[in-house]
Amino acid sequence: MWLRCTSRRLLTSLRAPRQTRVNHASSWSSSVAAAVPEAAGFAGVTDRATLQDFSLAHGDRFWDAMARNRLTWTSAYSAVQDCDLRRGKVKWFVGGKLNVSVNCLDRHVLTCPDKVALIWERDEPGSQVKVTYRELLEMTCRLGNLLRRRGVKKGDCVTIYMPPCPLAVASMLACARIGAAHNVVFAGFSSDALAERIRDADSSTVITVNQGVRGGKTTDLKKTVDAAVDTCPNVRQVFVAMRTETPVAMSNRDVAMEEEMMQEDVVCEPAVMDSEDVLFMLYTSGSTGKPKGLVHTQAGYLLYASLTHKYVFDYHDGDVFGCVADIGWITGHSYCVYGPLANGGTTVVFESTPIYPNPGRYWEMVERLQINQFYGAPTAIRLLLKYGDQWVHKYDRSSLKTLGSVGEPINTEAWEWYHRVVGDGRCPIVDTWWQTETGGICIAPRPSDPDAEIVPGMAMRPFFGIKPVLLDNEGKELTSKSASGALCLARPWPGMARSIHNDHQRFIETYCQPFPGYFFTGDGANRTEEGHYQITGRLDDVINVSGHRIGTAEIEDVVNHCSAVAESAVIGYTHDIKGEGVYAFVVLKKDADITVAELRQQLKDRVSKSIAKYACPDVIQVAQRLPKTRSGKIMRRVLRKVVEKDLNSLGDLSTLDDPGAVQEIIQGHQALCNKPPVS
Ligand code: WTA
Repeated sequence: MWLRCTSRRLLTSLRAPRQTRVNHASSWSSSVAAAVPEAAGFAGVTDRATLQDFSLAHGDRFWDAMARNRLTWTSAYSAVQDCDLRRGKVKWFVGGKLNVSVNCLDRHVLTCPDKVALIWERDEPGSQVKVTYRELLEMTCRLGNLLRRRGVKKGDCVTIYMPPCPLAVASMLACARIGAAHNVVFAGFSSDALAERIRDADSSTVITVNQGVRGGKTTDLKKTVDAAVDTCPNVRQVFVAMRTETPVAMSNRDVAMEEEMMQEDVVCEPAVMDSEDVLFMLYTSGSTGKPKGLVHTQAGYLLYASLTHKYVFDYHDGDVFGCVADIGWITGHSYCVYGPLANGGTTVVFESTPIYPNPGRYWEMVERLQINQFYGAPTAIRLLLKYGDQWVHKYDRSSLKTLGSVGEPINTEAWEWYHRVVGDGRCPIVDTWWQTETGGICIAPRPSDPDAEIVPGMAMRPFFGIKPVLLDNEGKELTSKSASGALCLARPWPGMARSIHNDHQRFIETYCQPFPGYFFTGDGANRTEEGHYQITGRLDDVINVSGHRIGTAEIEDVVNHCSAVAESAVIGYTHDIKGEGVYAFVVLKKDADITVAELRQQLKDRVSKSIAKYACPDVIQVAQRLPKTRSGKIMRRVLRKVVEKDLNSLGDLSTLDDPGAVQEIIQGHQALCNKPPVS
């Protein structure tokens, strides 16, 4: 009843774009219309490939058409964009007003209230819960009202520390509904890491659950939040949802979330937001010790997530989209929540692990939920490959149409297996390159041609409106087709991050200044004769462990705090499952009285307490000294070469302060390799 009366009225008043749509039926090429309905009327555009050219030649017209067609506006924008990459200024759909939760929920409730919006794939196989658009809107509204009643205002930032579940999605959307920004912190982060993010985001409200359930085990997430919040004087309240029956101690600042939500109305007036108001911040690692809160705003981000979700994966209405990323990462934000919901799709929210209760989990789920697009990480594919084909063959995967890969390079062996065994050789593999900073996929095999050739292990082609370029060390754009250099994006795009929270200068210095006029991604890439891009890896001190980004400096900070440690250097090394493993060189203090086993345990405890388990060193090499330049800088390049056993290309060692240090490091490494592997 509420829907038919109140929400409908609410929605109609929201759907009043000032600019009228033009019907270009006569010049509308039918093939493009079928492929990209929004492209109607673009002269010279006959297919998705020519649309890609158009999107670069007439960027404003392209994005204008997309924004008008794909988003529901409260009031229209006055300019498509106002950007200057040199100055770190990025604004899209200037002055436009809208509400992201209305775009993700209300407008679909109007047309298909009982369509399944999300399927919560809980840890125990077969216990999935389906949530319709109507139910998700209701949940979001109740929570929006509760947040408002408890004093959360437009412009505040709410930290969400939850495993993937409908209430986590509703929490994100409830923030969007009332105009608060959200800051989702991956629920595997330690209390120290969580506290740092709560403080930096200046959140006074935190949302969590009593316990998380993953791989058959429970984790007391509320306890982690309590420990974190005890060090955050600004936190006024912690909303606690009950994931399990296990009671949890509640203090004065705690709010029983579901009970309170039940007292709230199912209609919640959406805040009218400016295109450039903050939608969320998400912390990620950079090359310094301090994680950075990348800021994403409303309209541009949502449009980009929606458009990429549709065209990169060839998502069609009625498909079930299975992105198995955690909502704590950007992949979960863009492709579990915002992209699919903006498109009125059905999205899977996955709580478990690839090997629970056995290595057939993903494919059993594909069969049971009839998943059409499966989007996962190479690290999981490499792990499953080792368990053998029988776990895949056991299940019917005929529903699958597209297989996606994200977060790190996918090696040829994993690619081939994914294609041949999982996809029975008939599903395209889309290797998608992007970052927390880019908001959505920027390079993928088939954004602009659903039949294009795909080369294993290559992201290949830019998305509409994206112009990748390669630059050399001097900042010169490499113009020959086949080239190798620093990957930059030469045009701003709506999905890109706008800033680093509390530190816009760092945003400018990191992304805009290294190559003035370009957005610097921090990655290196090759371009082939055919013009296809292949990502070669990070150019900075960020490593990628099981698809999780971590700055080596962050780990060093923790290691250096150990009382026995004088100094350390952390690097990434090739790991056959994780992609990269963490290798720590540690110099002990002269008077340190500690065995290597004790040191290993201490470092493990400290890193998991300060950051997260995934950041723990896999290998620890105790060294007498580290190779340094005369100015005292650790030569990590040399350490990397030693660990990769590439001793013939150690490079120029003439700036080394003490060349003997390298020899010692090599010997120490060889001694370690001859020992049984460390866990
Ligand atoms: C890496 C994840 C190779 C890259 C969406 C990037 C990739 C970092 C790929 C961003 C890919 C992501 N091939 N490398 N397809 N996708 N990366 O912010 O180094 O967690 O800079 O975003 O992951 O990681 P982030």
